[in-house]
Amino acid sequence: MGQRLEGKVAIITGGASGMGRAQAKLFAAEGAAVCIADIDKEAGPRVVSEITETGGRALFTQLDVTSAEHWAATVAAAEEQFGQLTTLCNIAGANYRVSFDEQTEEMWRTILEISLTGAFLGIKAAIPAMRRAGNGSIVNIGSIATDRSGTNPGYATSKVGILGLTRATARAYGPENIRCNLVSPGHVDTPFLRRSTAYSPNDWSTSIDNPENLKQRVERTPMGRMVQPEEIAHAFLFLASDEAGMITGTNLKVDGGASL
Ligand SMILES: NC(=O)c1ccc[n+]([C@@H]2O[C@H](COP(=O)([O-])OP(=O)(O)OC[C@H]3O[C@@H](n4cnc5c(N)ncnc54)[C@H](O)[C@@H]3O)[C@@H](O)[C@H]2O)c1
Repeated sequence: MGQRLEGKVAIITGGASGMGRAQAKLFAAEGAAVCIADIDKEAGPRVVSEITETGGRALFTQLDVTSAEHWAATVAAAEEQFGQLTTLCNIAGANYRVSFDEQTEEMWRTILEISLTGAFLGIKAAIPAMRRAGNGSIVNIGSIATDRSGTNPGYATSKVGILGLTRATARAYGPENIRCNLVSPGHVDTPFLRRSTAYSPNDWSTSIDNPENLKQRVERTPMGRMVQPEEIAHAFLFLASDEAGMITGTNLKVDGGASL
């Protein structure tokens, strides 16, 4: 185990799966106490067990990121169990892979509610706790769509919007020693792209279980392969650590060149 996050207490939304899970495991291995805050109450506790079985400190809270009440309870639980909150990673997001014509108002609202309003509510809930701690690092998640919009209005808007939210947070809270950055992944091999869930429906025409879809994503990546969740976790680790003490308001792309 390393010590790059010694003394840190981190809330990770979407921590039950994919990139959030990889981050929770890496953060715990680097000395942080982690709160896996996720809507999935079956998978979340399993990640807690994976961490505690290897000597790490972890807690699960059932959080729907769109609920301010849930956020208050999550921050209180993390502080009560582990002490002062220093770190927030907003990973939970949503997508519907449909054309502009096919995107309904309901889909648009769901994408923006989970990906953007969810991060805003998380920041609002975490800031008073980070003030008490005297320092903080918030890391949000963007996408290739942060840089180069596709044709999906909700996803494009949420992933450009999250850059604005990141910059506004960095400007507002820098004077209080609280940083905020964005990590923008490329094509990452997670259930988000493979499985069909309420927040990220896929079928054979969109899932990377379909070799054609996998091939297309790899071909759009100059480095010639999918990104692994652990590679995203390392970027979050850096930005969450004191090594990044003067980095705020930035967008760190971890995409193998896919956004170029
Ligand atoms: N996989 C990719 O290629 C990719 C690329 C760029 C950005 N992203 C972003 O990453 C995030 C998804 O992460 P992943 O790829 O590891 O996916 P994933 O499906 O493996 O994990 C997403 C997690 O978010 C949780 N979640 C969904 N809705 C929630 C809510 N309302 N409240 C709390 N938790 C909720 C799910 O239960 C799940 O555990 C999204 O923000 C997405 O836009 C993914």
